Amino acid sequence: MTDPRSTGADAGLREEVARVRWFHSIPLRRDLTTPGLEPDTSRKLRWAGLPERLDGKSVIDVGSWDGFFAFEAERRGAARVLATDHHAWNAPEYGDAGFKLARRALESRVEQMDVDVLDHSPSVVGEFDVVLFLGVLYHMRHPLLALERMRSITRELLVLETHVEMLPSRRPLAAFYPGRELEGDESNWWGPNIPAVAALLRAAGFSRVEVVWPRPGPAAFARRLYALGRGVAGGRPVFPNALTRRATFHARP
Ligand SMILES: C[S@@+](CC[C@H](N)C(=O)[O-])C[C@H]1O[C@@H](n2cnc3c(N)ncnc32)[C@H](O)[C@@H]1O
Repeated sequence: MTDPRSTGADAGLREEVARVRWFHSIPLRRDLTTPGLEPDTSRKLRWAGLPERLDGKSVIDVGSWDGFFAFEAERRGAARVLATDHHAWNAPEYGDAGFKLARRALESRVEQMDVDVLDHSPSVVGEFDVVLFLGVLYHMRHPLLALERMRSITRELLVLETHVEMLPSRRPLAAFYPGRELEGDESNWWGPNIPAVAALLRAAGFSRVEVVWPRPGPAAFARRLYALGRGVAGGRPVFPNALTRRATFHARP
């Protein structure tokens, strides 16, 4: 059998991959992973707590960008996967070339639709067993409205992964970023804490809400200490660990 690494087709794929500005690190071949701005997208899979198998399920990946999680849902057996996005796919410096190239290279059947988050509704995109809303909430100017849109298309499960702030407080609070306060990115608007995200999900119409990351236990305790340390140190990280400021929720109608 010919080693695929030595074929002209494979060299061509490498050249195509090199021409794209990637956000996700997507393994396309055994020895070819896209060079994402996110050097290890697969670690986000652990935070997302996706069901191991999605056989027969319909899945929508909202804010899909290069499609890592949409392709993963397909790999886990989903019967139908729709990837939606708007901003990244229309940004001159990014576009949807990465998504399209990965879909071709993976021989994927994931569908693509260019639609703004706030335009998601059963009549525009349909309803889905599983809705992935990963890394998008803090980009929303109107987060409650965005979650209402997600609720309208969720049949069984919403998986929400987001940036969180003010971890020591048990009151639902949110930081507002009018400028580039969060990671120098002016498209970041909100940093709710974990109780606030849970309350937003309930207000949007989800009746069962579960925090799946960070998991309770010693690691969560350590993160809490870390968060307190940030407060004590005047906002400077005591342990510079970005993972402490992400959380994942599973929400069901
Ligand atoms: C940080 S990236 C997350 C990408 C991917 N979901 C992940 O978790 O790796 C945020 C994504 O949300 C998309 N996005 C932000 N605002 C949006 C909007 N109003 N409508 C549609 N997509 C939006 C961006 O284009 C981008 O693809």
